[in-house]
Amino acid sequence: MNGHDGTNFEKILVCCGTCCLANNSMDIDSGLKERIQQAGLPLEVEPMVKATGCSGLCENGPIVRFLPDDLCYYKVKPGDVDEVFEKTVLNKQEIDRLMHREPEQRNRVRTREENSFYKKQFRIALRNTGEIDPFSIQDYMERGGYSAAKKALKMTPEEILTEIEGSGLRGRGGAGFPTGRKWRQCAGIGRYPKYTICNGDEGDPGAFMDRCILEGDPHSIIEGMLIGSLAIGANSGYLYIRNEYGLAVRTMEEAICQAREKGFLGKNIFGSGYEFHLQIVKGGGAFVCGESTALMASIEGNTGEPRAKYIRSVERGLWGQPTLLNNVETWANIPEIINRGGSWFSSIGTEKSKGTKVFSLVGKVKNNGLVEVPMGITLRELIFEIGGGIIGGRRFKAVQTGGPSGGCIPQELLDMKVDFDSLEAADSMMGSGGMIVMDERTCMVDTARYYINFLSEESCGKCVPCREGLRRMLEVLDGITEGKGSEEDLELLIWLGSMMKEAALCGLGKSAPNPVLSTIKYFRQEYLSHIRDQRCPAGICKKLTTFRILEEKCTGCGLCKKNCGVGAISGKPRLSHVIDEELCTRCGNCIDVCRFQAVEIG
Ligand SMILES: Cc1cc2nc3c(=O)[nH]c(=O)nc-3n(C[C@H](O)[C@H](O)[C@H](O)COP(=O)(O)O)c2cc1C
Ligand code: SF4
Ligand code: SF4
Ligand code: FES
Repeated sequence: MNGHDGTNFEKILVCCGTCCLANNSMDIDSGLKERIQQAGLPLEVEPMVKATGCSGLCENGPIVRFLPDDLCYYKVKPGDVDEVFEKTVLNKQEIDRLMHREPEQRNRVRTREENSFYKKQFRIALRNTGEIDPFSIQDYMERGGYSAAKKALKMTPEEILTEIEGSGLRGRGGAGFPTGRKWRQCAGIGRYPKYTICNGDEGDPGAFMDRCILEGDPHSIIEGMLIGSLAIGANSGYLYIRNEYGLAVRTMEEAICQAREKGFLGKNIFGSGYEFHLQIVKGGGAFVCGESTALMASIEGNTGEPRAKYIRSVERGLWGQPTLLNNVETWANIPEIINRGGSWFSSIGTEKSKGTKVFSLVGKVKNNGLVEVPMGITLRELIFEIGGGIIGGRRFKAVQTGGPSGGCIPQELLDMKVDFDSLEAADSMMGSGGMIVMDERTCMVDTARYYINFLSEESCGKCVPCREGLRRMLEVLDGITEGKGSEEDLELLIWLGSMMKEAALCGLGKSAPNPVLSTIKYFRQEYLSHIRDQRCPAGICKKLTTFRILEEKCTGCGLCKKNCGVGAISGKPRLSHVIDEELCTRCGNCIDVCRFQAVEIG
């Protein structure tokens, strides 16, 4: 297909976020740069090649975009570089096979605008992620970067606070606490020094929202923190990032250096006399260190354990001083609010949840990736329009929101609006934005067991309700998945859960029962199948599962036999196959690969 004759691509953006890097996108970036240099193109024709942070549709990475047309190529390999250079860069021809194909449709789509993954997205926190080279402060400034900080330096702290309050922004780290209110409380304390902290711990399994902002748009966080520090009167800030986030740490380190060189950090910022210093602290990776008081203990060099919050951190936080802690995404929203105004921000979203939210949409959904949507979008739009629906034509079963201590929301609630209050009303929570989609082959009892196991390992053990409650819950769930459960166990789990919610010291223990309570509420029948019928309907709990092949449906294609790693399936071509139960390890490969639904869970 020939495209856009005569168009010169001014920029080529190569996604070098972590997922694309894992698929060698750096070689694509350097390969294109090399060929363009070798070709000696005249300057007005030579496009600028930039390595960017995550472009969002990680499932289909590496992604290469050509601007200003916004022609997008997906799943590009280093081996495609020659063809991309020859055809698209030199001859302006589009390569059909590298364009996106909508799930269930044959036609290719050229641009992000036409791609249903992006259509309903609205980017505020991710406004620069995937658009700029995160190692270039110049790139950030060309898109308006640091203009909000400049503006804020001319505002009074009261004016900044009013703008943030007016925006209706609520913290994106989990609890959804109103950001403006937190800032005002901290600003109102007349003790110095004060500190600001960015929480980049992000310990939720499957979540990568904060990592992508740290990696893809580091200056938006620095600028947000600078504005917050001005509002409360802090001169020092800390970025707490988990050590496993190597690229995020490197990107932030470089951004801090560049901001210092430009005079945006350090003494006398923009010649205003204001001073702000920022440093990175690397976390050891304990999930509980994402909790604000544990995080502060960890920065101080103490064991990362939460403390009771009789006195709030805005009053006595880091080293006993007034401290303002916000999440990565919360900080990244701040410059846009200052630039465009609190009322602009509050015009987006729902009555009590303003603005947008970034989610990492993962699991059994076709378009796995990073999305930012206005608050109030429905789960159905998120999963079926943006996410493209369920992989392999299977049935949707549940979506887990809110990280390991969020809840599992069933099919009946797919039309529910995604905002802080609706999610809580459905016994889940927003959390920091992890969204894990599950299909009919997910066992909800096993899912609850998985999260309780995770939380039991991550509990700091300081308080009894969480430490012992989680252990006991895990024992009970292990028993149910092994066929040793009783109906009284369900009542015991509910009682344990309510006790933990009441008595645990910190948010980890208080919210830990959510996966159990929500699955008992919405999937009680599945628990009862494990207990009464000794059967796992999803075919996951090995002790409660058998597989058999239905003679009337089996075509004898042999695909299951080929995919059985232990040789448990026998049968001649075009004749019905059989499974040897003695040899079968219950891996489930045969049911997953059979195209005729001939394998049944016993
Ligand atoms: C166990 C636990 C883990 C947490 N992990 C994170 C985290 O990784 N990142 C985060 O921003 N907030 C996390 N939080 C929430 C923080 O304690 C805090 O509420 C939040 O960072 C405040 O920022 P915000 O007001 O901008 O949301 C966690 C809370 C708990 C109880
Ligand atoms: S609730 Fe759990 S993680 Fe929190 S303090 Fe108690 S034992 Fe530690
Ligand atoms: S479940 Fe796994 S081991 Fe058992 S027959 Fe099927 S493919 Fe073979
Ligand atoms: S890392 Fe490239 S699209 Fe997410």
